[in-house]
Amino acid sequence: MTLRLRPEEVARAAELLRAGELVAFPTETVYGLGADARNGRAVAAVFEAKGRPHFNPLICHFAEAEAAFAEALPDERARALAARFWPGPLTMVLPRRAECRIDLLAGAGLDTLAVRVPAHPLALALIRAAEVPVAGPSANRSGQVSPTTADHVLDGLGGRIAAVLDGGPCAVGVESTVLDLAAGGAALLRPGGVPVEEIEALIGTVARPIPIAAAERTRSLRSPGMMLSHYAPSLPVRLDAQSVAADEALLAFGPPLQGAGAAWQMSEARDLREAAARLFAGLRWLDAEGQRLGLSRIAVMRVPMEGLGAAINDRLARAAAPR
Ligand code: TXA
Ligand code: MG
Repeated sequence: MTLRLRPEEVARAAELLRAGELVAFPTETVYGLGADARNGRAVAAVFEAKGRPHFNPLICHFAEAEAAFAEALPDERARALAARFWPGPLTMVLPRRAECRIDLLAGAGLDTLAVRVPAHPLALALIRAAEVPVAGPSANRSGQVSPTTADHVLDGLGGRIAAVLDGGPCAVGVESTVLDLAAGGAALLRPGGVPVEEIEALIGTVARPIPIAAAERTRSLRSPGMMLSHYAPSLPVRLDAQSVAADEALLAFGPPLQGAGAAWQMSEARDLREAAARLFAGLRWLDAEGQRLGLSRIAVMRVPMEGLGAAINDRLARAAAPR
């Protein structure tokens, strides 16, 4: 049985975390599957609950930058980025400090650590009350669409975790931007909630990921979240739809194409923030509705690449990738 906890019950959620239990919690991006990052058994249970391959490291969440930087070593750029974007949807991969207390399994044995301070009052309240760093991948079964509501979490992980702290729908809706600063350069490991252009405005050029198809061929993945088939609904996904058939479910952006068997609007006004916030809920709803109605696939209208469009298109490309 998985408890659904209300925001007032954050102290109870923190107690469960401290006791080594798994507690899903809201962030501004997506729901995270929280565990005490210093507790190896709790961290192992995260991998098990997600069905996630052990080599894929977890992000550690902190309530302040200074707590993050006590575990991972920032350079000047990391400090500047933290001052500008934390709390917020940016994850930085930094060298692990020698005195780092985060369990090695959380970092998958790497000598780096992914750290972030989320911009959600309940997430921050939970981390503060628990007084531990919180390891938190997205709270979905591995390879499936990330959850943006407590119901999504329960759909995938109900019965496998102790509790979900219900903070309503997530405002950003796509995961954090993952930026690798550990090796001296700056490389984008995952486009996300902070557009890379805004990062470059502060620290200069950021290396972009190799296109995912090429990454899959070479299997030279720096960030396992760059795996090609990810965020996958059950129905096949067709991108860049210019028209739509009656046996298709439509993920619309802007004035919708007519004739679909079912439709979900990401943003009628073509607002990329609104679209990001509604993306994963839309994929889930169209998948369920499409299967209920016996539709053949999900057709997706084109979304421009600028700003949050990079993160949206990245997730859509993965959803459409061959499995
Ligand atoms: O928005 C988010 O980032 C959400 C919320 C819950 O914070 N979390 C999330 O976590 O998306 P997850 O585990 O689904 O994705 C973390 C990504 C993965 O692609 C992982 O491979 C990468 O970060 N990552 C974590 N630690 C890393 C490290 N030390 N080096 C390189 N990549 C790392
Ligand atoms: Mg994930």
